[in-house]
Amino acid sequence: MVLRTLFPHPIIQGPTAGGQNTPAQIAAVSNAGALGSLACSLLTPDAMRSQVEQIRSLTARPFALNFFVQTIPQVDPAELEQARLLLRPVLDVLGWDELPLPAKWCEEFSAQFETLLELRPAVASFTFNILGAEQVARLRAAGIVVVGTITTVAEALAWQEVGADAVIASGVESGGHRGTFLGRQEDATLSSFDLLAAVVAAVNIPVVSAGGIMDGADIKRALDLGAVAVQMGTAFLVVDESAITPAYKARLLAPDRPATRLTRSFSGRYARGLENRFMSLMAPVEAQVPAYPIQNALTGAIRAEAGKRGDTELMSLWCGTGVARARPMPAARLVATLLAEIAAA
Ligand SMILES: Cc1cc2nc3c(=O)[nH]c(=O)nc-3n(C[C@H](O)[C@H](O)[C@H](O)COP(=O)(O)O)c2cc1C
Repeated sequence: MVLRTLFPHPIIQGPTAGGQNTPAQIAAVSNAGALGSLACSLLTPDAMRSQVEQIRSLTARPFALNFFVQTIPQVDPAELEQARLLLRPVLDVLGWDELPLPAKWCEEFSAQFETLLELRPAVASFTFNILGAEQVARLRAAGIVVVGTITTVAEALAWQEVGADAVIASGVESGGHRGTFLGRQEDATLSSFDLLAAVVAAVNIPVVSAGGIMDGADIKRALDLGAVAVQMGTAFLVVDESAITPAYKARLLAPDRPATRLTRSFSGRYARGLENRFMSLMAPVEAQVPAYPIQNALTGAIRAEAGKRGDTELMSLWCGTGVARARPMPAARLVATLLAEIAAA
């Protein structure tokens, strides 16, 4: 199945792990003729089943399920102790003596993968690593279109090699985590349109452009450069159906918002979000925090507490460089607005 034959408009609502994606949001996007996506990285197989059931009760149209390709890490107790010490300045601000340990480091990807095969969405997208050719073949045999997220030309070629149907080329402007899996994350610095042009020239599978795409003129430019569609995360994070917390949303939309920056302090993998106190407190030790998913799991309790307190200085405020152009409105109206802007561009 060819990705772009599944939905009429060249727009994919980017998956946003962290609980913002809702069945209502995904269904509204897909019902409007774009492609909704559900971030599954933090979901158990049962939670995946229940969310997909809800989406299917709201739309008969195609949608995507999205995953972090990851393995549960072996954690060295000395490394763990060191990581907890590095978070001390943040604990002091919270007024905590101890950092509670997480119940698990991450979900079991192999179990999510089997559940994905059982649920058979039209599209599955992946980030943080690559699947093996056999896994891709199993998904395709089940009728699932396989899409890999890439941040370099080498990664696009690697996904093409294992049989992916398409790639999402995520430029450095993108909100949330960088998907880099070959080489150093710090070296995957191409902007969305430079990456798009380079990837389109290098591969013979369809390319979706992501990062900093906020309006119809941006979409038109991506299509002119050879993209088959765009993936927009920040733009759909602030739609009415998103479950983003009120404090996070207000911070993203405030005209005096700080700049965005890439940091690995929250999760151990570089991700883009608004600068805040957590980032500045951790900046001196950013290079020393353990890799994803260990740091992500360790800071989970801090981020949850900050969420409860509505304290935007200690939670992750993931968004892309285009956040100043994000427009809160119902998801279907955003899709219609983007289509009108593409036509006018
Ligand atoms: C809060 C947030 C969470 C995200 N979570 C995921 C995710 O779970 N999986 C994924 O593939 N991409 C994730 N992304 C990336 C988006 O799907 C999309 O590719 C990216 O936001 C595009 O850049 P933009 O924010 O400038 O539109 C996330 C982005 C944000 C802002």
